[in-house]
Amino acid sequence: MRLGTGSITEIYLDGSARLDCPPNLIPTPGQYLLAQASASDAPLPVPLFFYASASKGFCFAPPFPATWTIATQLALRGPLGRGFSIPASARKAALIAFDDTPMRLHGLIDLAFKQAAEVVLVGEADSKGLPEAVEIQPLKALKDAAQWADFIAIDIARENLNRLKEKFENLNQLSAAQEAQVLIRAPMPCGGVAECGVCALQVQSKWQMACKDGPVFIWRDLLK
Ligand code: FES
Repeated sequence: MRLGTGSITEIYLDGSARLDCPPNLIPTPGQYLLAQASASDAPLPVPLFFYASASKGFCFAPPFPATWTIATQLALRGPLGRGFSIPASARKAALIAFDDTPMRLHGLIDLAFKQAAEVVLVGEADSKGLPEAVEIQPLKALKDAAQWADFIAIDIARENLNRLKEKFENLNQLSAAQEAQVLIRAPMPCGGVAECGVCALQVQSKWQMACKDGPVFIWRDLLK
């Protein structure tokens, strides 16, 4: 974990923004930075997730405070948490945005292509800016995509986990060759420093913190 500063250099119509920052602060897909505008009286920092590569930094996914504009200076802490890890053997990747933008999953697309995997993106995705080789499917195709894939990455809010479990009632019977990882979105005000517990959830029947034990968890561990 490192401290540093960055500056917003572009804000895009899709709600994302570009941040110039030192290279050692750039999070991997699923990890995050905690960011606070310098001279801001906002009490809580904002988690920023990787969306796309950019020269001198990276683009991060929405949301972020409406008061942030081009040239806003940010105090940064990170990269924090555990990100996604695509198994080297994966050749069919399903990226599932369950209840929000798929942007936090986009960083996995290039990683999957590098190991010659096919990619299906499930959710309310806009094909603009996506490589043609990415197949886009609506959320109703979720079960089919999950059965097809040998690697599944899901982005979901903590409060919707039970809905996902219901939809995926068979996913706890994934074959041994399938790996499912879940990015759990929850408020993460302290990033583990103050052990505030705001981001807590039950994993393997124990309380864990999304901010430092996650925010990416193994799906099977969430079912125990
Ligand atoms: S955000 Fe405070 S413990 Fe996770």
